[in-house]
Amino acid sequence: MTSTIGSTEHGLSKFHRLLLDQVRHEFTASHQYIALAAWFDARDLPQLARVFYRQSLEERDHAMMIVRFLIDSDVPVTIPQPGEIENDFETTRDCVALALRQEKQVTEQFHLLARAAREENDYTGEQFLQWFLQEQTEEVAKMSTLLNVVDRSAGNLFDLETFVARDMPDESEGSAGAPGTAGPSVG
Ligand SMILES: [Fe+2]
Ligand SMILES: [Fe+2]
Repeated sequence: MTSTIGSTEHGLSKFHRLLLDQVRHEFTASHQYIALAAWFDARDLPQLARVFYRQSLEERDHAMMIVRFLIDSDVPVTIPQPGEIENDFETTRDCVALALRQEKQVTEQFHLLARAAREENDYTGEQFLQWFLQEQTEEVAKMSTLLNVVDRSAGNLFDLETFVARDMPDESEGSAGAPGTAGPSVG
């Protein structure tokens, strides 16, 4: 008898193993955003700092949504160390470019997850991923726009801060249809 869906006594499905990895990727992204926010904060760029501190909270929530799902799916959860964090940046552009690279990487990770869920006929898993896939489209677009504006501001950090203040407000109403977190959500 073989079972390809979910966890069995023979071990975790590929999808669940990748989801456990994704908890680490989301915590890494959360820490990386704090490093970027602190860099802006230390350089008196409060609007960019605000956006990136907020982004860090959202990544932390993404990790905790996956933790919630794993617990509900009876997958043994271990909380991982985050990966390497970059702290040495020369320019604002370097920071935003790193954020965009990170979001594109996370998008690829979710594509890999989606492929695994489909290969293993894990319909519940596929459904769980839908919100994250949509969220990644939004986050890549957000960082891509910000990078374009950084380039357009041509080094004028006042213009850049004005744009961020005007066009990148905190979204406090939460995200529609977002999966629940383990414990309270903070983003
Ligand atoms: Fe995320
Ligand atoms: Fe993200």
